[in-house]
Amino acid sequence: MSTRTVIRGGLVITASDEIHADVLIEDGRIAALAASNTPAAQAFTAERTIDATGKYVIPGGVDAHTHMELPFGGTFASDTFETGTRAAAWGGTTTIIDFAVQSVGHSLREGLDAWHAKADGNCAVDYGFHMIVSDVNEHTLKEMDHLVEEGVTSFKQFMAYPGVFYSDDGQILRAMQRSADNGGLIMMHAENGIAIDVLVEQALARGETDPRYHGEVRKALLEAEATHRAIKLAQVAGAPLYVVHVSATEAVAELARARDDGLPVFGETCPQYLFLSTDNLAEPDFEGAKYVCSTPLRPKEHQAALWRGLRTNDLQVVSTDHCPFCFVGQKELGRGDFSKIPNGLPGVENRMDLLHQAVLDGHISRRRWIEIACASPARMFGLYPKKGTIAPGADADVVIYDPHAEQVMSAETHHMNVDYSAYEGKRTTGRVETVLSRGEPVITEREYTGHAGHGVFTPRSTCQYLN
Ligand code: URP
Ligand code: ZN
Ligand code: ZN
Ligand code: ZN
Repeated sequence: MSTRTVIRGGLVITASDEIHADVLIEDGRIAALAASNTPAAQAFTAERTIDATGKYVIPGGVDAHTHMELPFGGTFASDTFETGTRAAAWGGTTTIIDFAVQSVGHSLREGLDAWHAKADGNCAVDYGFHMIVSDVNEHTLKEMDHLVEEGVTSFKQFMAYPGVFYSDDGQILRAMQRSADNGGLIMMHAENGIAIDVLVEQALARGETDPRYHGEVRKALLEAEATHRAIKLAQVAGAPLYVVHVSATEAVAELARARDDGLPVFGETCPQYLFLSTDNLAEPDFEGAKYVCSTPLRPKEHQAALWRGLRTNDLQVVSTDHCPFCFVGQKELGRGDFSKIPNGLPGVENRMDLLHQAVLDGHISRRRWIEIACASPARMFGLYPKKGTIAPGADADVVIYDPHAEQVMSAETHHMNVDYSAYEGKRTTGRVETVLSRGEPVITEREYTGHAGHGVFTPRSTCQYLN
């Protein structure tokens, strides 16, 4: 039996258009759009009508960088796939792409199977996987081809974290060569981890143990150096490159230069780099530990380059790098030694609202908001136009967004399974009201109406940004 929903009277915003239109949904997909108050729209009939008068009707967010349940720093990220995808829905995100992990000495397959076991049947919204490659060898390289075929089309490598996820330049080059052949996309954590470890050791020897030293040793220059090296390795391999969690002005400059040279090089930044700074890392009484992530928060002056990069398309995507650790019992593992603070910030619920606030603050346009948060990540990672837009044939992942509602971000009211908010007390205007995932209401007028297991694994094609 077909089920139909019509959303009437809202302003439909996509990466390319803003139109007052009614949206007809049938069997979980967008069936048609028609200008509101026209005979074509009046002809839409449905079992369920959503009145979106005065609201925005936007595609569900695509968060291309999350770490639910990640084992890291001697503990696990505190959101499970169940709690994390529910929080994502509350924040207007209807697709996440999480990172499955290959541990050293194990195969990609084992890592991917383990992530399926964590996620399958537990998610409130749809999900895909990237694969973290920590052990490049002949077997791994062959496995990359198989993963691309089954819809895991992107691979993260680390120039940071020696002894954990780290790959040397030779391993990186090999994986890039393979992805040049099989259509996969290499995602790079670009920080010179070998040099950083020296600076960590020297800082600790000087008794510099507070969280703020995390920001001081992980220097912008070492992000820029690694970004530059990754770009050159990708150029040698003839492969495209996507640099994750870009935070430094100097790294944006490397990306911009490569793009000016015509290279297929792309960059992502995250809300924490746009809205937070080393001032947070310097908060007293170990509170700065709440803001320890890598790449680290930078001095405020770096934010202008990130906003500019988002406007000029030198940066294409804003993802969260959602990797929450509770302050009590988890961040506290690093009292007396900042290098033992688990790295990562919560944010999967906050991204769409923070970026809407950026529209109001004049940093980006409304359509660019949708582009960097929905359409561009979908295109980058082979999900478009199924995800990331509102167009006939697309999945009916739709958010009814109230652009006038005001809220105060807080751990008291958020839905992420973490005991603090990185944005505690921040006032924003704009709020998710209703969320549909493939036509099903997951949030209905600010009530959770979804269920674990609704979200399905979504295989991806190769990067569509290049076509
Ligand atoms: O601090 C971070 N970013 N934690 C998650 C792991 C990573 O490097 O993305
Ligand atoms: Zn990373
Ligand atoms: Zn990450
Ligand atoms: Zn369902």
